[in-house]
Amino acid sequence: MLILGIETSCDETAAAVVDVSHEHGIKIKSNIIASQHEIHNKYGGVVPELACRRHVENISPVITEALNKAGVKITDVELFAVTKCPGLVVALLVGLSTAKAIAYTLKKPLIGVNHLEGHILSIFLEKPDISFPFVSLLVSGGHTELYLVEDFGKYKVLGRSRDDAAGEAFDKASKMLKLGYPGGPAIEKTANSGNPMSINFPRAYIDKDSLDFSFSGVKTALKNYLDGFIPPYSTSTMFLPDVAASFQQAVVDVLINKAFLAVKMYNVKTIVIAGGVASNKLLREGMKKRGTAEGVSVYHPSSVLCTDNAAMIACAGYYRFKENKYNDFYSLDAEAQMKL
Ligand code: KG4
Ligand code: ZN
Repeated sequence: MLILGIETSCDETAAAVVDVSHEHGIKIKSNIIASQHEIHNKYGGVVPELACRRHVENISPVITEALNKAGVKITDVELFAVTKCPGLVVALLVGLSTAKAIAYTLKKPLIGVNHLEGHILSIFLEKPDISFPFVSLLVSGGHTELYLVEDFGKYKVLGRSRDDAAGEAFDKASKMLKLGYPGGPAIEKTANSGNPMSINFPRAYIDKDSLDFSFSGVKTALKNYLDGFIPPYSTSTMFLPDVAASFQQAVVDVLINKAFLAVKMYNVKTIVIAGGVASNKLLREGMKKRGTAEGVSVYHPSSVLCTDNAAMIACAGYYRFKENKYNDFYSLDAEAQMKL
């Protein structure tokens, strides 16, 4: 069975074709992503109106490219899966109305997918044999959450950020350091030649048993640190790689410690990291090293499946479809905030 996934919740217009009748799990036949980073870069963050306009321009060519690359026709697709929440409503609506129109015309089922479930389940596109339960550390631009994943569709929130998401903290720090958008990859690249021990930025643990996160303090600490210099900041007044490396280390330390506290508290032996920040090398390596020391298996999807993509939406749509969770064409709507 072929599924077409569509994703337009933020600044990536994406479409993917997956085949779920493959004997070794779900096969990605195409995974097309039109990124808008260059448009939003000069604003240091996503501008919703610009994102929406670009989604409108991109959606048809991206779907056509996904079908062509997969070597299939739209009439071969048996299920449509589209992100319905959470995200920028004006952006979500572009994907949602497109998916509704196509599925309605072809009289095929349509599933509205929660983007967060897409991230959590993205690992099954590459590792179909991961067993439940596992702890999912979902770290993206809009969310930083820990879930106990007991089965497909069974997610218990263990903790979440009380203010900024980890990706958002990277994006805001990068804006302060004038490194561009998206901030995570820019900070990571700059940090490569820096010393992570040079500045002791705060790590917020809230209290010792809390699985909640807070990243506003480290962001303010960076601002205060920068305010101690005279703008424009440059390598003549400070060594940017040291600042980036110290900031990155502070964020990553908290993510690792909380994820391992969660596995300990819930007596689980597997952690899966997902979302854009899961492509961060320091986080991946730190998690794996700690996992080896503590007998916990750590998995992450490859980078293209960590950041926003439509293959993960098709994947989550498939598991919803198996539970007969169809959406009604008329009631299915975009929602900015929707918990899992
Ligand atoms: O999952 P995603 O593509 O979109 C959301 O659902 O938000 O995540 C985007 C976020 C951005 O904040 C970006 O700065 C961050 O993921 N990110 C990274 C890295 N790559 C992307 N953060 C740290 N290191 C990276 N290598
Ligand atoms: Zn995302």
